[in-house]
Amino acid sequence: MPIHLAHPLSIVDKAQTLWPASRLHELQFLGQQAAQLDMGLYLVGGVLRDLFLGRVGLDWDLALEGDLQEFLEPLQNQYGYGAEKPSPFLTLRLLGPENHWDLARCRGECYPQPAALPRVYPADLTTDLRRRDFRINAMAMDLHPDRFGTLLDPYDGRRDLADQILEVLHHRSFQDDPTRILRGLRFSLRFDMDLGPLAKTCMDQVLADGIFAMLSGTRLFRELQYLLQLPQPRQSLERFCAWGLGLLLPALHAPDPRLWQALERLSILQHRWQKDFPQDPLSSWLAVLMLLCFFSTPEERERHWQHWQWSPPAAWRRDLFALPAAPPGSAARAARYWRPWTPEGILVALALGDERLSNSARHYWKIQRRMRLPVDGKILQDWGIPPGPALGKALEMLQDAQWNGEIHDQHEAYHWLTTKGLLHR
Ligand code: CTP
Repeated sequence: MPIHLAHPLSIVDKAQTLWPASRLHELQFLGQQAAQLDMGLYLVGGVLRDLFLGRVGLDWDLALEGDLQEFLEPLQNQYGYGAEKPSPFLTLRLLGPENHWDLARCRGECYPQPAALPRVYPADLTTDLRRRDFRINAMAMDLHPDRFGTLLDPYDGRRDLADQILEVLHHRSFQDDPTRILRGLRFSLRFDMDLGPLAKTCMDQVLADGIFAMLSGTRLFRELQYLLQLPQPRQSLERFCAWGLGLLLPALHAPDPRLWQALERLSILQHRWQKDFPQDPLSSWLAVLMLLCFFSTPEERERHWQHWQWSPPAAWRRDLFALPAAPPGSAARAARYWRPWTPEGILVALALGDERLSNSARHYWKIQRRMRLPVDGKILQDWGIPPGPALGKALEMLQDAQWNGEIHDQHEAYHWLTTKGLLHR
C-alpha cells in the first residue's frame, strides 16, 4: 500500500544546510537512475533521524524498490561504481566515485523464532519501513526526480524526536530482535530519550520470557561492545541496570558500589590519556569490560566469555589477573612492573588504585617506555665483559640504572659499571 501524504514536506532545504553537497548531488543522480528503470529509491533510517536532530550521520542507507542487479548494471558499466556482493539480507555496499552507500532491496522480514536471524523477502517501502526498530528510524526521503526530497514519515517519527520518545512499531519488535533493546539503550543515551509505553511493555515481556537467552552470543556481544564504547560508561551501565539488563554483563547483576566510582574514574582517566598520548590507540570498551570482569567472579566472567564465543587477548587477560595493581617502589622497579601492561590494563589499575600508582604509571608510559640503553652487548664485550650470564646481568643492571636516572649516555654507563666493580680499568 503506498504511503499517503496529506501535506508533502520537502526536506531539501534542511538537508542543504547540513549534508555535504556531493552527497545531495549523488542522491539526485541515483534517484534519476532508479526512475529511468521505473524503480523507487529512498534514503532511509538513521541519517534522516540525525538530520532532524541537527547532526550528520555516518551511515547513508538507501532502499530500492526493484531488483538490485538491474539497478547496479548501468552504475557499474557506465558510471564507474563498484559494488560488493549482496548479503543474504539483500544488502550491499555501493562504492560511488565520491561516496559510499549502504544499499538494500526494500524488504519484509519474518522471524522463524524469537531472536533468530530473519528471513527476508522483496517488498515495497511501506513494508520495509514497518519492519524497522523504532518510529524515529522509520522515515524515508523520496529520491524520485519529481518528488526529490519529500519526507515519508508514516509513523510520525519526527514527533517522537520532538517528544524524546523511543517507540517501537509493533508489539513483536523486541521479541523478533532483542538486540533492538540494546540499540534503544544507546539511542536513549545518545539522544536523551525515554522508551515509549509499548516499547517498555515489550522490553519487560522479553526479559520475563528470557528471550535474550535465545539470542546468539556473538550478536549479543557485538551490541554490548557498542554500548561499552559510549563516552560515559557509568551512566550507560547504570541505565543498563535500570532497564533490567544487568544479567547480560559480568558484575552488573548485583553491582558493587565501588564499581560505579571506579567507572567514573576510568572515564576521566581515559579522556586524560587520550589527550596526553593521542598516538597510542586505546580500546575503551576493553578497558570497561576489564573493570567489570574484575568485579565479577572467575566463574561468572568465564560463563559470559564462553557465551559470547570470545577469547580475551592474552595481554588483556594477564592484566585482569594482575589486578589490583601494587605500588611498585623505585623508578626501576616501577618500569619493570608496568612494562607488560596494556594501556587498558594500566587505566583500570589506576581507576582502582591511588595517586602513587598514577605517578609511576604515567612516568613509565611517558618517559621510561621510550628509553633506549646507550650501550649494547657488543659494546660491553669491547669494554671487556665476556659473553655469557655476566653480560646479560650487566645489561639488566644498566637498564635499571637508566630507569632510575643514574645514567644517560655511554660515558656514564662506563663509569657506572666501573664503580659497581663490573668493569676494571
Ligand atoms: N534497523 C532495524 N533493526 C536493527 C538494526 C537496524 O530496524 N536491529 C534499521 C533501522 O531503521 C536503522 C537502520 O536499520 O535506522 C540502519 O541501521 P544502522 O545503520 O545499524 O543504525 P542507524 O539507525 O543508522 O544508527 P547509527 O547512527 O547508530 O548508525
